[in-house]
Amino acid sequence: MAGSVEIDVGCGRGTFIARIAREKPAVSFIGIDINESNANQSQDRLSKEGLGNAIIVHDEVQKFLIRHVQHESLNAVHIYFPTPYMEAIRKANILGTGLNQRLIDQGFVNLLHTKCQPGGILRVVTGHRHYFQEIAVALTNSLFKETPWVNPIRSSSFSNLVGTGLEKKQRALGKDIYFLQAVA
Ligand SMILES: C[S@@+](CC[C@H](N)C(=O)[O-])C[C@H]1O[C@@H](n2cnc3c(N)ncnc32)[C@H](O)[C@@H]1O
Repeated sequence: MAGSVEIDVGCGRGTFIARIAREKPAVSFIGIDINESNANQSQDRLSKEGLGNAIIVHDEVQKFLIRHVQHESLNAVHIYFPTPYMEAIRKANILGTGLNQRLIDQGFVNLLHTKCQPGGILRVVTGHRHYFQEIAVALTNSLFKETPWVNPIRSSSFSNLVGTGLEKKQRALGKDIYFLQAVA
């Protein structure tokens, strides 16, 4: 892929990747999801909308990054509402990945850093306070530097951070949302 490349880790049903691909036609997007049904729904959505600058991959993200993504090649990594619950993580283990812990730990953050270009952006949003604290510690102990989040969504009527299905649910329930941005 030539030019700027951004990835959406655990893209779910594709709400975010479809919107960002529409807003940034000059950027290439890759959505990755371990859940086949989610990956298929996301790809259908992109195809229906004719968004040729985005594709979906059905894979476990760490495997995908290690096997298919060159070092210092990503301009941005989006991780929105990563699965916090062990039961769901084990259920998602359909690719025989042996997943038995939360995705974002020190090793994963360090791996992401090797795949981001210098100046590449990492954004994380979650509704899970404890997971957020774990992620913040891993970032502090990495080569990423935390920076202020400036919302890229251009529409002034857009009041969400990223507008994913999970963000809408959390907001409807009046729950807290935690977010951070870091630069490689
Ligand atoms: C809680 S959902 C969030 C979906 C979407 N980002 C949102 O905000 O609505 C988490 C998604 O990450 C996917 N996922 C979890 N672990 C993953 C992994 N190791 N590799 C790829 N996808 C993963 C799940 O299948 C699920 O679709």
